[in-house]
Amino acid sequence: MTIRPRRSALYMPASNLRAIEKARSLPCDVVIFDLEDAVAPEAKEAARANAVAAVRAGGFGDRELVIRVNALGTPWAEEDLAAAAESGAHAVLAPKVGDAETVQAYQAALARAPAGTGFWAMIEAARAIFRLDAIASAMAAARPGAFVLGTNDLAKEMGAALTVERTPFLGMMALAVAAAKGHGLAILDGVYNAFEDDAGLERQCAEAKAYGFDGKTLIHPRQIEGANRGFSPSAAEIAWAEAAMAGFAAPENAGKGAIRVNGEMVERLHLVQAERILSISGKTLG
Ligand code: COA
Ligand code: MG
Repeated sequence: MTIRPRRSALYMPASNLRAIEKARSLPCDVVIFDLEDAVAPEAKEAARANAVAAVRAGGFGDRELVIRVNALGTPWAEEDLAAAAESGAHAVLAPKVGDAETVQAYQAALARAPAGTGFWAMIEAARAIFRLDAIASAMAAARPGAFVLGTNDLAKEMGAALTVERTPFLGMMALAVAAAKGHGLAILDGVYNAFEDDAGLERQCAEAKAYGFDGKTLIHPRQIEGANRGFSPSAAEIAWAEAAMAGFAAPENAGKGAIRVNGEMVERLHLVQAERILSISGKTLG
């Protein structure tokens, strides 16, 4: 079993060539070239050209490369989607996806992209929250990918306070994880705007990991290390996974569905979790 690590996904405005150049050596698992909200209208065309040129030129090692396009209905969407589809990016990230029909519209616009190009959706529109399962189902049916939580837009639309604790968002976070995982999609947490608050970032990463998120979207390079640490399996998790695997491999446990490991019950269903932990812990960039 191999699972791609997506602990740290760094956004950068694709209008910022210096940020793009830096990303080639930053230890993030995912690079998101933004054409949308981080780019001013007058810089949209240049940003699109920069993102495509960067993906084509390569030099990003194992990092997963994602282009966030402008939403369908904006003046830039069609050209963004056509360019992203031909760029060779690993995935295209669509903003403000509110329903399954919108997913289908993006899938149609990406029809000519290579089969391996994933489709990722920003979950940041209030109306998406009661449609999470349908959105995830539509995504899984065509180009599987990931949910990316957009807490800034959700907070803006709902009039909710975006604090480090994120109390107004915790219920939605759990629902989004259930919808994504129920359809085999990955899910990344929203950004933490206070990028100089390392303790706050650590708290949000620990919480998101506990909810089942695979990683966190980031806005600044100084957040990468914290996210990589926060979403890597801990020493205790690795020890548990190894003990669970060893326990079920032992001849005396052959044919058993539940066994005792270090004073706790471990069932065969836990082997999937154990394999995931060991797979992720063995595949990190640094
Ligand atoms: N990706 C890559 N490099 C980045 C970066 C990013 N997101 N943010 C900053 N850097 C680089 C800078 O270019 C700078 O490099 P240098 O010292 O070699 O010149 C270095 O990191 C330090 O940057 P700093 O001065 O601390 O940041 P800033 O004040 O210039 O910019 C932000 C702060 C928030 C505007 C900037 O980090 C940013 O644009 N973040 C991404 C925003 C985004 O994409 N939002 C959309 C999704 S929410
Ligand atoms: Mg947004």
